[in-house]
Amino acid sequence: MWLPCRCTSKTIVTSYARRVFKSYFCVFGRWKCDVAALMPEAVGFEGVKDCSSLQEFSVSNSASFWAAAARHRLSWIKPFHTVQDCDLSLGRIKWFEGGQLNVSVNCLDRHVDTCPERVALIWERDEPGSEIKAAPGDDMSPRKPVETAWREKGDCVTIYMPPCPLAVASMLACARIGAAHNVSSTVITVNQGVRAGKVTELKRTVDAAVKDCPSVQQVLVAMRTENPVTMTAKDMDMEEEMLKEDVVCEPEAMDSEDVLFLLYTSGSTGKPKGVVHTQAGYLLYAALTHRYVFSYQDGDVFGCVADIGWITGHSYSVYGPLANGGTTVLFESTPIYPDPGRYWEMVQRLKINQFYGAPTAIRLLLKYGDQWVQKYDRSTLKTLGSVGEPINTEAWEWYHRVVGDGRCPVVDTWWQTETGGICITPRPSDPEIVPGMAMRPFFGIKPVLMDTEGKVVTSNPASGALCLAQPWPGMARTIHNNHERFIETYCQPHPGYFFTGDGAYRSKEGYYQITGRLDDVINVSGHRIGTAEIEDVVNQCSAVAESAVIGYSHDIKGQGVYTFVVLKKDADDQEADLSQQLNNMVSKNIAKYACPDFIQFVQRLPKTRSGKIMRRVLRKVVERDLDGLGDLSTLDDPAAVQEIIQGHRKLC
Ligand code: PRX
Repeated sequence: MWLPCRCTSKTIVTSYARRVFKSYFCVFGRWKCDVAALMPEAVGFEGVKDCSSLQEFSVSNSASFWAAAARHRLSWIKPFHTVQDCDLSLGRIKWFEGGQLNVSVNCLDRHVDTCPERVALIWERDEPGSEIKAAPGDDMSPRKPVETAWREKGDCVTIYMPPCPLAVASMLACARIGAAHNVSSTVITVNQGVRAGKVTELKRTVDAAVKDCPSVQQVLVAMRTENPVTMTAKDMDMEEEMLKEDVVCEPEAMDSEDVLFLLYTSGSTGKPKGVVHTQAGYLLYAALTHRYVFSYQDGDVFGCVADIGWITGHSYSVYGPLANGGTTVLFESTPIYPDPGRYWEMVQRLKINQFYGAPTAIRLLLKYGDQWVQKYDRSTLKTLGSVGEPINTEAWEWYHRVVGDGRCPVVDTWWQTETGGICITPRPSDPEIVPGMAMRPFFGIKPVLMDTEGKVVTSNPASGALCLAQPWPGMARTIHNNHERFIETYCQPHPGYFFTGDGAYRSKEGYYQITGRLDDVINVSGHRIGTAEIEDVVNQCSAVAESAVIGYSHDIKGQGVYTFVVLKKDADDQEADLSQQLNNMVSKNIAKYACPDFIQFVQRLPKTRSGKIMRRVLRKVVERDLDGLGDLSTLDDPAAVQEIIQGHRKLC
């Protein structure tokens, strides 16, 4: 190479080297910086440069990914020695074995030291403008009651409370002492609940339940209203008890796989099952999804309006936000109290940054018109979330265009009580978000679709049964007292995979859309309920011979409840009175939302010759798809179908 002189050559070489190094450092620096900003613990993961390569890494290097996340996100008393020991075909799921930690320390103590002034909870009470804010050191905060734990490790506690700081305190108190919250020797409740200006007698409901539950030894009663309630020998005034105990309660060291809580949820058969979640994996998954699905930043106010008794409230009103040291809103009211502007007035007043709600409420509010939204300043909003049921395009568009002023990403989050946290969802930073689609798997999640023969469908577009091919830390471990049922329901339908019970469509781009349940579970206003549960209650009525419950498409609720009832011979003349009676029974034994929208009395149900009710036929009648009735050759008595069609026409 020709060089004019040594000096020049030196200059050229140096400047060349500088440029090369500069660009190298630029690229390296940016890469390092981008990944660190994306997820600090991902720095150093091979080949990871953006969200999608991180997702790929998290699935193909699951153990490295989750180990790094667990070390970075959780405070451990003792480090874990094994990241995972799982075999989906056997229903064996264990994460972070050898590790010990305390969930309440992770949700409270460690944040008290770093930012004691930060508001942890905002209790948005029923009456707008009467909110109460609590920092971790305040009297109203969960920390105080947490320190006055009253039971022993290993106990079980049922919490039956509306969204309020004492409910969160009770959950964290259980976590602190190592008592699983739900099934019980102790019940914690309030005297009365208040919602939409109406008082509900919660304590009275507990009294009735405790009568049939000899295992319950004590009931702690907090006062939500000033109205006194009758106290029994087992009852104790919660606030009085808390005052008595002024000792600081040291947190128990809990094993990663100790039970954290149980939540009961519906399946297609039998009684609701107690889904079991454990300590470390659940907390990590709730925290990570909360931070990344909603782009939650320190100092943001997170507004999840779900009831805290639902898994959504557990993961995204309580554990996720608190583990992240965030500010979370506990919403006691309804979307239309005192008027349909409630959510948005609250967003303005509390300066909410992420709003997370259910499609059924969005559909309801849409009908009241844009003016209720536009009246209020929503400029603090950054992300809008949807949960619990499919969100139709009209509701999605309205949420995005009107509520989010077209500038806030809408994340349609798919998950279940069993998954512990969000599994399929767009991310706010994604370049493309398709309305009404959950789209992409979260870190560590590998969805697959199964065809009717149980084979994985690899082509796109495709539809099939949605399964998850790899375990993840947030997944349920078992069904309380019934591991067999856990295996049967989730592991056996497609051995080696977790079967979700949902059907899904995958577009040619590879995006997922949930199409609904594949079993006899329906989703009414985001509430999951087995048709068999409603039938069980209806069949308890002495005049009823048998019944069949079907879900049908409903404008606001997503699905409505349609009930076919066959009366006993001598009860034929009581139809008018019975409708009301059946509604009351369902409301009392299950919930108001489970009440039938329609009750059709029929002479008989369409059955196969082997006596199985042909639900497919009933569904088609209710959907008015008479051309789709399909093959009726196995029907015992084809006349039954004609009777049902005529009766349906008269009723609807
Ligand atoms: O059918 C799916 C539906 O709700 C079921 C889970 O209900 P649950 O256990 O009560 O959990 C609710 C909190 C996530 C699922 O099997 N589901 C949930 N999210 C969506 C959904 N269906 C469609 N799109 C969703 N985003």
